[in-house]
Amino acid sequence: MTLPFREKFAGESPYGAPQLNVPICLNVNENPYPPSSELIADITQAVASAAANLNRYPDRDFMELRTDLATYLAEESGVKLAPEQIFAANGSNEIMVELLQAFGGPGRTVVSFAPTYSMYPEYARNTESRWMAGRRTEDFDLDLTHVRELIARERPALILVASPNNPTGTALAQEDLVELLETTWNSGPGEDTASLVVVDEAYAEFRRDGVSSALELLDEYPHLVVTRTMSKAFGAAGLRLGYMAAARPIVEQVTIVRLPYHLSSLTQAAARAALAHRAKLSEQIRQIRAEREKLVRELAGLGLEVAQSDANFLMFGLFEDTHSVWQALLARGVLIREVGPRGFLRVSIGTPAENVAFLTALTEVLS
Ligand SMILES: Cc1ncc(COP(=O)(O)O)c(C=O)c1O
Repeated sequence: MTLPFREKFAGESPYGAPQLNVPICLNVNENPYPPSSELIADITQAVASAAANLNRYPDRDFMELRTDLATYLAEESGVKLAPEQIFAANGSNEIMVELLQAFGGPGRTVVSFAPTYSMYPEYARNTESRWMAGRRTEDFDLDLTHVRELIARERPALILVASPNNPTGTALAQEDLVELLETTWNSGPGEDTASLVVVDEAYAEFRRDGVSSALELLDEYPHLVVTRTMSKAFGAAGLRLGYMAAARPIVEQVTIVRLPYHLSSLTQAAARAALAHRAKLSEQIRQIRAEREKLVRELAGLGLEVAQSDANFLMFGLFEDTHSVWQALLARGVLIREVGPRGFLRVSIGTPAENVAFLTALTEVLS
């Protein structure tokens, strides 16, 4: 007897950054600050009152949460959206899979530009979509000539672009995004069909002043989707709440493939409680951004190359043997991430004390 394993999964292993019990964890781009005691109290109360109705299925359309998310986006980026233009799921990972289920699939191609988020090819694999990775320039920007050629050749149903990009930290220039959106009006899998352009803004709140959000272009481009998450700036990775903003026909299509009652009433209640505390986020984000700029200078001071970052992490190098540097840091109680192009490592921005510990350990390792 053997189980009906699928050939395509032979030799595959599940996604997973190491979850190790070490003093300094700077490997998965979390917000280093735990929720305040006021927020914990509010979440506890909200979850308790949702628990009183746990015998009932949750609100399938979660319009209250969508309204709160629209309010938050309007404050954060100045872009006003109707609640019907927002959709949420258990992390932006789930949103992305739903987008591929709705618009990708057999006979359809998903394009992205490497190096980028390592989950994208897995979403394509799991939805039977064809995966095609183009390349980026030496500075990890999009090479628009290459982008146009690839899109004309592949006629993708979806194009995934993370901005700020993971693992590089670099943001997509708004003029390049406009070019991409202009190039994709008719580049989709059928006659007169657009390619869906999905901008993954998981780290958008950390962008430097003057860097735009793709949300600003939603009104003009009905084939644009912007995804966001509460896992990073909101400091709620454990909550599992990701969301997207797009034109209504896209949201309606995603609603067709979502699982019934996919967003638990406890998640909805906790997310709303966390969103109500949003005013207190900006000081924390400001501090993480300031720590990032400080760490850029310090890494450069060690003679290292650091990619320009609009996120809460830095990609730095170049090392001949990244694994031995990673290992030596781990031996000193500092966990970072071995990810990205050859010679580079990635570190998340921690608290000031964690950043000092990382830098002290790295200085030791390099000397
Ligand atoms: C670029 C990018 N998109 C999406 C995600 C997933 O976030 P979520 O926790 O919302 O599923 C991550 C997580 O690291 C990420 O780096």
